[in-house]
Amino acid sequence: MGTINGANIYITGGSSGIGLAFAKLAIQKGAHVAIIARDKAKLEKAKYEIKTCCSNQHQRIEAFSVDVSDAEKVYKAVPAMIKKFGKPDILVCAAGLGFSNYFEKISDGDFKRIMDINVFGIWYTLKAFYPYMAGRKTNIVLLSSLAGLIGIYGYSAYGTSKFAVFGLADCLRSEFKEKGICLSVLCPPEVNTPFIAEELKTIPKKTKCIKKMTGMLSAETIAKKMVGAIQNNKYMVVPGTMSKITWFIHRMFNGYGTRIITDGIIKFLGNDEIR
Ligand SMILES: NC(=O)c1ccc[n+]([C@@H]2O[C@H](COP(=O)([O-])OP(=O)(O)OC[C@H]3O[C@@H](n4cnc5c(N)ncnc54)[C@H](OP(=O)(O)O)[C@@H]3O)[C@@H](O)[C@H]2O)c1
Repeated sequence: MGTINGANIYITGGSSGIGLAFAKLAIQKGAHVAIIARDKAKLEKAKYEIKTCCSNQHQRIEAFSVDVSDAEKVYKAVPAMIKKFGKPDILVCAAGLGFSNYFEKISDGDFKRIMDINVFGIWYTLKAFYPYMAGRKTNIVLLSSLAGLIGIYGYSAYGTSKFAVFGLADCLRSEFKEKGICLSVLCPPEVNTPFIAEELKTIPKKTKCIKKMTGMLSAETIAKKMVGAIQNNKYMVVPGTMSKITWFIHRMFNGYGTRIITDGIIKFLGNDEIR
């Protein structure tokens, strides 16, 4: 059973959205928190917000500016972070980028960027922290998505990256377990964070409609699920009733059920957008 109280927690993407909500909840529960992201101003603001949630004066909060998609920087930064903040008991990989668009409107560069951050970013982070976590009772949480379990119209880049994250988690679960690391993977539907505002810039109407099926959850709800996963050493978490039903239908009918529903929505909306 993973314990939050007194734990040293590193959170990539801890300056915004789900990562920040988790950082605040963890600090309320007595953890020490180190957040990792790129933008220094956002990190400082987040650090201040997290501080207001402290449950005692001995809690430590650190912010580190690192681009997780840059292997060299990650491998150089992590030992220095550990020297300053201590060994990780819990690592949360929430740093991520998302956008939705038609396949032909996604450039090679955009595809590479999303894979670099969402997939390689997690790979480098795990590689860098693993030596400090293996052989001890530790927890790692990866953020995939419902779009990493079910292929969704308009998500050829994002979905691919999130399927990769889920694949990585599914392979690593048993390897890590052998080393005392409990791995959890979260597969949320839409979550109300700044990520959504970014996505709105290019999302096709049909994708928006399909996403409505599973509804929107708050970052705080996801943070609670993450805490639950750590405390109960739970591997896979699909938050939200509609997501659970959708995921159940998808598995039950070998993908047919969800394909029939989404193909119906796509047909009903017709050619209402210029591609
Ligand atoms: N929101 C949703 O609907 C939703 C649903 C399912 C899954 N998820 C997943 O949940 C995770 C968190 O999403 P969110 O909604 O909380 O997004 P968010 O509010 O946009 O936060 C993203 C965080 O990642 C950091 N980040 C981005 N690129 C980075 C990089 N190269 N290096 C280091 N940090 C980086 C950002 O800070 P900087 O930009 O300053 O680096 C920020 O702290 C993502 O993996 C996302 O795919 C989100």
